[in-house]
Amino acid sequence: MRIDIVTIFPDYFREAFNYGIVRKACAATLIKIQSHDLRSWTSDKHHVVDDRPFGGGDGMVLKPEPIFAAVESLTGARTRAGVTAGKRVVLLSPQGRSFTQSLAAELAQVEQLILICGRYEGVDERVAEALVTDEVSIGDYVLSGGEAAALVVVDAIVRLIPGALGSETSASTESFSDALLDYPHYTRPSEFEGMRVPDVLLTGDHPEIARWRHEAAVEKTKRNRPDLLK
Ligand code: 6GU
Repeated sequence: MRIDIVTIFPDYFREAFNYGIVRKACAATLIKIQSHDLRSWTSDKHHVVDDRPFGGGDGMVLKPEPIFAAVESLTGARTRAGVTAGKRVVLLSPQGRSFTQSLAAELAQVEQLILICGRYEGVDERVAEALVTDEVSIGDYVLSGGEAAALVVVDAIVRLIPGALGSETSASTESFSDALLDYPHYTRPSEFEGMRVPDVLLTGDHPEIARWRHEAAVEKTKRNRPDLLK
């Protein structure tokens, strides 16, 4: 899979992909991630990427032309209709639909993913209307730009690419793949500052351990995310 990130801060990503699973997936050439400076698709002397909003108001709005040019040069498509199967063009914006595990799984299947990082003041709406295949938000809060969201999206997707995780089973037994939060984990010591690891985990009785874990996952979900049980 190839991931192209279009951003006004291409250097923001340099260090971030040099760790853990993402680094391994890059080294194993399972994925190739490149960040691209949106300004390189401007044609004016000062490489201007934003302008004042029609209708007035605060803040600046990212202009459509450099973004359309970026997507055309990276995918060959001039509009959403020209984006071929196997490619997705994602605009990261607080106005997007929610990024979920199921969307991560869907995006992990594609051959090329373009991530366009918006700025919180806004992106000319014609990008969402006519260019992107998906407008995506990572949660109900406002970030100053889509860059931090792009890191989140890349991480969630890369770990679902076959071969990216050490053991193939890890991804499917964790939180959200079965609509419950993950069960609590413990390691040594069996007692730490008066807090004991639940006895059942020390018994070696695996059916009983599985039962305890399921129950503990339900309890944790009730407490922290009751919405998931509805
Ligand atoms: Cl994708 N972008 C911005 N700017 N803010 C967000 C977001 C994205 N998702 C949640 N908040």
